[in-house]
Amino acid sequence: MKVAPSILACDFTRLSEEIRQVEEAGADLIHLDIMDGMFVPNLTFGPVIVEAVRKIASRELDCHLMIINPEKYLDRYIKAGCDWISIHFESTDQTEACLKRIRDAGKKAGLAISPATPFVYVESYLPRLDYLVVMSVNPGFYGQKFLVETLPKIAEARAAVARHNPKCLIQVDGGIYGHNAQTVCDAGCDIVVAGAGIFKTKDYRRAIEDLRCSKA
Ligand code: DX5
Ligand code: ZN
Repeated sequence: MKVAPSILACDFTRLSEEIRQVEEAGADLIHLDIMDGMFVPNLTFGPVIVEAVRKIASRELDCHLMIINPEKYLDRYIKAGCDWISIHFESTDQTEACLKRIRDAGKKAGLAISPATPFVYVESYLPRLDYLVVMSVNPGFYGQKFLVETLPKIAEARAAVARHNPKCLIQVDGGIYGHNAQTVCDAGCDIVVAGAGIFKTKDYRRAIEDLRCSKA
């Protein structure tokens, strides 16, 4: 499994050092949680910070847009330097157009679903996705508890990806630590996102190794 540390849980007073440390510890992607205070009950940061992270990071940036009407802001995030961009299925009625814009810009297009959204709602988009994001907590905050009821959804997505688009990766986001990473991996995850599971530990390298697991 690839590991994408979410900087939401890092020490922002030492942002560049934190990024350098997770990269040295083996991070595959840097996950950026963009929240607008409307789609989710929390606010984080916007394109200006993404641009700054772009200058610091050497890994690709994975931007998770938890914002209403992402179509209004996509161009700014593309310009800010995101390499992977996921939008939420629940956040727009222009899913198809958003995915196309991301891909036309040469970026990887992802579609995220919150825990309450059944997988079948997004199944038809699989052929046009580079990655599907299965949320394993309700989006909004780091450090929440993993919702075990999302495990069957990961498995369902894995089976559907094999049928419709084997190139589509499955990312699982929220509440993942060393102790439950293997279960998530066994269910069919390719990329694990972790905030607290990395940044709230003392040894980032060890945390990333524990999260990586191995396919059974
Ligand atoms: C939740 C975010 C997640 C979260 C991950 O809305 O999308 O990326 O920050 O943090 P942990 O691993 O602490 O749940
Ligand atoms: Zn996220």
